[in-house]
Amino acid sequence: MTRGLFISFEGIDGAGKSTHIERVAALFRQAGRPVVLTREPGGTPLSEKLRELVLHDPMDALTEALLMFAARREHLVQVIEPALARGDVVLCDRFTDATFAYQGGGRGFDWQVLAQLESMVQTTAQGALRQPDLTVWFDLDPQIAAERLASARVPDKFESQPADFFAAVRAGYARRQEEMPSRFARIDAAQSREAVGDDVALVVTSWYSRTPT
Ligand code: TYD
Repeated sequence: MTRGLFISFEGIDGAGKSTHIERVAALFRQAGRPVVLTREPGGTPLSEKLRELVLHDPMDALTEALLMFAARREHLVQVIEPALARGDVVLCDRFTDATFAYQGGGRGFDWQVLAQLESMVQTTAQGALRQPDLTVWFDLDPQIAAERLASARVPDKFESQPADFFAAVRAGYARRQEEMPSRFARIDAAQSREAVGDDVALVVTSWYSRTPT
């Protein structure tokens, strides 16, 4: 049976990741692999309700972290684990690295507590810690990201944070990459959209060619 693959896409707000996820989906579909496109927080009806709360309502930092993990638990149980068990390719717009980056780096919430929640929520029935097989990190200077966001839509609770918040979020991503370098691929998101797209396609296809199926 074909092994499921789990790929997450990360970066600060304004890094431009969402536009490239469709292209990755097309690559896998062309290779004959069923694709599940999903996002966090969200991905199930309950998790999407939690998304509305965490993106718009002010709340305590622990409450925020717990809601992120509550939404993630539902998403894992209802969507991600069944898809991986079927052998699908799961493409997830943000996953747990975002919690370490935003709640840990950005909000300054305790990194070890997040690690405990991670292991509680992401331990599979087989006892392994579920992590993405590959994480594509769109890395961008927060100043450039802020300029890109300024011309976009009405900001949510996170998007309206100041530049130093995003500098801390970026540092959070860098710390996660240092902790787990083998699954991270850093993309220079300051390049043109075309160049970023080409880099993403290259990273994903070369990783896939090295991955046992
Ligand atoms: P985002 O993924 O950027 O979606 P959209 O493109 O629709 O704005 O929005 C999700 C926001 O939630 C983003 O600002 C990051 C934040 N977030 C966290 O703070 N912690 C998390 O664990 C996750 C998954 C997201």
